[in-house]
Amino acid sequence: MNDTASEIKPQQSIELLKELHILTRDSKMNQDSRRKLKQIYHLYNFVEPLLKQLKDSDSKLNLVDHGAGKSYLGFMIYDLFFKNLDRGHIYGIETRQPLIESSKKIADKLKFKNMSFLNLSVADSITDKQLPDQIDIVTALHACDTATDDAIEFAIKKNAKHLILIPCCQAEVASILKKNKPKQLSNPMTEIWRHPIHTREFGSHMTNVFRCLQLESYGYQVTVTEFTGLEHSMKNELIIATKIENKRQRHVDRLNQILNDLGLTELTQRFSTDF
Ligand SMILES: C[S@@+](CC[C@H](N)C(=O)[O-])C[C@H]1O[C@@H](n2cnc3c(N)ncnc32)[C@H](O)[C@@H]1O
Repeated sequence: MNDTASEIKPQQSIELLKELHILTRDSKMNQDSRRKLKQIYHLYNFVEPLLKQLKDSDSKLNLVDHGAGKSYLGFMIYDLFFKNLDRGHIYGIETRQPLIESSKKIADKLKFKNMSFLNLSVADSITDKQLPDQIDIVTALHACDTATDDAIEFAIKKNAKHLILIPCCQAEVASILKKNKPKQLSNPMTEIWRHPIHTREFGSHMTNVFRCLQLESYGYQVTVTEFTGLEHSMKNELIIATKIENKRQRHVDRLNQILNDLGLTELTQRFSTDF
C-alpha cells in the first residue's frame, strides 16, 4: 500500500471511496483498488464532457447504468458531477438483489438522494414504470452477454442522446455460427470462423459490429476505441454513441446484408432496426 492522496480527485468524497472499499479505513489503497479507481476515472473522462453539454441544455440529466454491479461507476459519476446539481438522476439496474441493497445503503448514508437502484433485468427495465420515458445517457460497463444488447434496445427506445458501452463477452452470435456451420461449409468464407476458437472470436467481433451498425441505423454517430484503463482485461472495447440524426437506411441495409451473408438471419430481431 502507498499513500494515494495525489491519485484522488480533489472533489472526490473520501467517505464514498471507503464505503466502496477502494480506500481502507486508514485511507490506503491496494493495487486492485488503485486499478479500479484508475479505470473509473478514465471512463469518467469520457462521460464528463457529455454531462457538461447536457447540463447546458434543458435536459433532465437522467443517466441509467445497466448491469451496475456494485455501482462503482454510478457512485463516482454522482459524486463527481451530480451531487451539487439541482437536477439529474442516476438509476442503477442490476439483477443481484444484495448489490441493490448495499448500494441503497451507501446512497442513504452519503445522502445521494437522486440515485435509485432497481432490481431489474436490463430487458425488463425497458418497460418498467419506475424509469422515466426520457433518458439522456446510458452506460453499461461489462454488462454480461446479451445485457449489452438489451441496454442498446433500452437506449434506442428511450431516445437516449448518448451511450457509453464496454461490452462483455456475448456467446449468442458464436453459437449460431457454430450451429449453422455444417450447412455453410461449401462457402469458402466460412474459413473465417471454421475453427472453434475462430468461431468464438469472430462471433464476439461480429456482435460488436452488429451493435454499432444497429446504433448507426438509428442515427447515432458511433466511435469505437480501446479502453486503455482495462489493460488487465480481455474485454476493452469502448463504444461511444451519440444521437445526431434520424434513421439511416444505408446502415439498415448493410446490417441486414451481413446477417444474411453470414447465415445469421435468425438474429434479425436481436439487432433489430425496427423497434
Ligand atoms: C461484470 S459485472 C460488471 C459490474 C459493473 N458494471 C462494473 O463494471 O463494476 C456485470 C453485472 O451485470 C449484472 N447483470 C448481468 N446480466 C444482467 C441483466 N440481464 N440485467 C441486469 N443486470 C445484469 C450482473 O449481476 C453483474 O453484477
